[in-house]
Amino acid sequence: MTAGWIRGGKALLFFICLVPLAKLAMETFGVAGLSLGANPVEELIHRFGIWGLIFLLITLAVTPLRQLTGWNWLIRFRRMFGLFAFFYVLMHFLTYAGLDQRFDLAVILEDVVERPFITIGFIAFLLLIPLAATSTNGMMRRLGRRWQKLHRLVYIIAILGVWHFYWQVKLDTLESLVYALILAGLLGFRIWRKYVRSAHP
Ligand code: HEM
Repeated sequence: MTAGWIRGGKALLFFICLVPLAKLAMETFGVAGLSLGANPVEELIHRFGIWGLIFLLITLAVTPLRQLTGWNWLIRFRRMFGLFAFFYVLMHFLTYAGLDQRFDLAVILEDVVERPFITIGFIAFLLLIPLAATSTNGMMRRLGRRWQKLHRLVYIIAILGVWHFYWQVKLDTLESLVYALILAGLLGFRIWRKYVRSAHP
């Protein structure tokens, strides 16, 4: 792929990644008869959380897909997926902290300490911050090999994210198990390539 195609592709992808946000904004402001339903704050928390997780999984799918297809240009889009994962998780956190808890730090801290599924989500969110902060080309260059080591945290973050999802579900755990299965596939593929395939090429 030429540099022009990559640039065009990135611009297009940027707008596609904003579609969930645009739809949520339309539902929030009642555009075109859309609505968030009876419990809008809860719905916003849920939908931002789901999109955060989806973008995390898409980010993790880039390398296996590239290795299976030989489409090396896919790697050029990975950073954007990762940053959108951070963006949607940030919105998820801000909706919870701002609209649900009115930025009452004492209540938020109590939740983080006393509700295990929130503790797990909060740890995942904290771990995402250094990854987003070091996502620039400059930081990549400055950190060298340490950049790769640091960004391996994404595996832990995705496991914590799925765990957080599974733990907060009261009744129907099927959806969270589907995400767990996809994550297991994405991580399992890496383990297979690293240990099994390299031992029996
Ligand atoms: C990587 C970080 C995170 C990911 C991927 C994530 C993802 C999710 C997902 C997928 C859901 C379920 C949505 C649904 O049921 O439709 C959820 C629910 C929720 N998350 Fe997170 N989350 C993260 C971090 C956080 C943080 C930092 C907080 C707050 C400190 C938080 C608070 C909540 C709450 C309050 C719910 C809804 C629980 C309920 O309705 O009872 N999450 N999250």
